[in-house]
Amino acid sequence: MVDSVYISDVSQHVGKEIQIRGWLYNKRSSGKLWFLLVRDGTGLIQSVVFKGSVSEEMFQTCEDVTQESSVVVTGTVSEDKRSVGGYELQVSGFEILALAEEYPIAPKEHGTTFLMDHRHLWLRSSRQHAILRVRHEVIKACRDFFDENGFTLIDAPIFTPNACEGTTTLFETEYFGSRAYLTQSGQLYMEAGAMAFGKVYCFGPTFRAEKSKTRRHLTEFWMIEPEVAFLDLDGDMDLAEDFVSFIVKRVLKNRRAELEKLERNLEPLEKIGKPFPRISYDEAVEILKKNNIDFEYGSDFGGADETVISQAFDSPVMVHRYPAQIKAFYMKDDPGDSSKALCVDMLAPEGYGEIIGGGQREDDLAVLEGKIKAHDLPTEAFDWYLDLRRYGTVPHAGFGMGIERTVAWLCGLSHIRETIPFPRLMHRLNP
Ligand code: 4AD
Ligand code: MG
Repeated sequence: MVDSVYISDVSQHVGKEIQIRGWLYNKRSSGKLWFLLVRDGTGLIQSVVFKGSVSEEMFQTCEDVTQESSVVVTGTVSEDKRSVGGYELQVSGFEILALAEEYPIAPKEHGTTFLMDHRHLWLRSSRQHAILRVRHEVIKACRDFFDENGFTLIDAPIFTPNACEGTTTLFETEYFGSRAYLTQSGQLYMEAGAMAFGKVYCFGPTFRAEKSKTRRHLTEFWMIEPEVAFLDLDGDMDLAEDFVSFIVKRVLKNRRAELEKLERNLEPLEKIGKPFPRISYDEAVEILKKNNIDFEYGSDFGGADETVISQAFDSPVMVHRYPAQIKAFYMKDDPGDSSKALCVDMLAPEGYGEIIGGGQREDDLAVLEGKIKAHDLPTEAFDWYLDLRRYGTVPHAGFGMGIERTVAWLCGLSHIRETIPFPRLMHRLNP
């Protein structure tokens, strides 16, 4: 019996006969030889079939095999520096498990719509592998960071009775004769968690009916949200800075090959270091002015504004104290200037814009009640949330980081759609 081996492990089997189970990625021939490039999800290996070493019938199979057919290749591993992955297989056996129909994704250039329509197949390409492995690493790093720092994972519900991030982007669904919304953020539940456990986080999908078609917006995205009792805005910024530095270091350490495959310039990522610059909203507006950007003081920054602001710095920049008016109901006012909120957005460098939003929460019952009313939100739905202020309220803060925006930045992608296996956009629900 020949051992089945993953391509990622062939280095441990040099000189031995093994079996690879996978799919045909590509092939070419030169008379007496067939070069079959086989992938198995862990890597690629060139499998060399010599006419003299296999039966005529088997050699014919190489002629017949089509791109993405599932195959089993038996052969002896040899080192070959010129080959993809550094190893080759001298084939003694080749079998087609299922002959693939003509594969729609050819090595030529395809349009984005075509590729997105075939996302279920597009995932097989090496570029998509690289991006999604960076995504995996980012998620693992997020979890490791909080797990290693005394946080407890508290899962937030997906069905919710109330809005967290404004009522304009809510997805509504029928819920046994009443109404429910898909969660926009787990934050309110994390505040309950922080009052119970001190330091908590949640990680899950969040939903926003974003009617804008931008390169930064999905309607379904994944967010990691820490929340900490007895933490103020400065502490929150310290946490965000430690967290993002940790993720960048981890990805550079473990996913360099993937970033190189994506032709990501690593220099800007390598330059990132603590402390990250911290500027106020007012200071950010000054940067826009200096760059002759037409901006109305008091409004929120658009994507183009964020790009200009972030380009003034090498590391991610934390912009704090936005006008309270443009921010969510739960934010605490700055005691030094009640027109501002104790909030922070982290803008990624190189024009990637906001990756983190968060801040210190309003912890006073009466003030919070007033804010809920002022935002025209239904008081009943927030009664449980107000309990957190009725029973032992304390200063607390947290933030949410969007996984896809972070991956887009780290991979240097121009659009967020490739950072999630099956993107959901305003005009895309398939596949
Ligand atoms: O700034 P946001 O709206 O903040 C919150 O939801 C807070 N409740 C989080 C908290 O404090 N616990 O969203 C946080 C992050 C953004 O910075 C961005 O990275 C991402 O979520 N995000 C999106 N990512 C992709 N598509 C969208 N439509 C996004 N909306 C927000
Ligand atoms: Mg935000």
